Amino acid sequence: MALILGIETSCDDTGIAVYDNTQKKLLSSMLFSQIKSHEIYGGVVPEIASRSQLEKIEPILSAALAQAGIGFNAIDIIAVTHKPGLVGSLLVGVCFAKGLAWGGNKKIIGIDHIEGHMFSSFLNDDGTTKTDLPFPHLCLTASGGHTSLYHIKEFGNFSPIAETLDDAAGEAFDKVAKMMGFGYPGGALIEKMAAEVDFEDFFKYPRTKHPNHEPMFSFSGLKTAVLYSLVKLGAYDLHNGPILENMTPELIRKVSSSLLVCVGDIFCQNVKLTFKKYPEIKALTFVGGVACNKYLRARLQEACAQQGKQFFFAPPRFCMDNGAMIAFVGGYKAEQEKFSDLHLDVLK
Ligand code: KG4
Ligand code: ZN
Repeated sequence: MALILGIETSCDDTGIAVYDNTQKKLLSSMLFSQIKSHEIYGGVVPEIASRSQLEKIEPILSAALAQAGIGFNAIDIIAVTHKPGLVGSLLVGVCFAKGLAWGGNKKIIGIDHIEGHMFSSFLNDDGTTKTDLPFPHLCLTASGGHTSLYHIKEFGNFSPIAETLDDAAGEAFDKVAKMMGFGYPGGALIEKMAAEVDFEDFFKYPRTKHPNHEPMFSFSGLKTAVLYSLVKLGAYDLHNGPILENMTPELIRKVSSSLLVCVGDIFCQNVKLTFKKYPEIKALTFVGGVACNKYLRARLQEACAQQGKQFFFAPPRFCMDNGAMIAFVGGYKAEQEKFSDLHLDVLK
């Protein structure tokens, strides 16, 4: 029960990895990112995403096996993302995994994509696995599709603490970048622009209120606040989009910086409220595409230090969607004997 193949096709990335669950080491992780195909549309087009998954999945599998230096026969278990995500993209991965499992007589395990992200901070960039990440810990998962806090008690044993009521944090970055005339995704660009004005808060956008000191996220009001501040400054027209002569580089930097500082405050506030509510929590992990952001990592690290908690984050290549986190979760599920069968379906 040693070698796990992880397959991730829930959205616009095709990720396949091999994890050695005996040595607790990643042997390979290959990724094809479709960003270029979706950029011009300002978001992911589901039909294009699933067609591209179909084209790339076989070559990415071959590349992942070659990088690991093994043949397919050496694989013991196939772990595949089966929810949540775009149904067409998920179907490509799940059907492919079932074919491999049936044809090769291997066991199959369906993995929840969010659970994959949740445990991705156990992987180090060099492929080794962390042994010093304590339980119980808190996980802040933030990507283009989700922003949530989870109370993590053990491998595979977790419960949600807070979830966004509307947009995800990454979605807020992507939508604001689009408002300013940039393509998808926008998070990395916002970070770059914000750094040029030293992460100063120019516009003081509204922070989430916590009526009963309960942790919770909401980003759609923030996105609207940014929109109307741009309209007021004559840089955005509600019918025609950005007004380029007024959308100056200086304004873009100021908006990006104010937005990022605001999201940083929202994250830190939620983490502090959760630490207060659950004093047994020993550490925070920060995962998902938004965890690539160095400013947000530094803010959370500081908040943890103030509260006497440890801080861990997933390395950037495992923050974005990838097969390694799916293979890793497949590893502990195999130990727990939580197998699926060939009736495995998407979104169920
Ligand atoms: O986890 P991921 O690859 O896909 C989803 O499951 O959604 O996350 C993609 C998200 C996008 O919204 C993107 O704008 C955001 O992660 N992102 C960032 C950064 N890099 C990617 N957000 C803020 N700062 C970054 N450096
Ligand atoms: Zn994701």
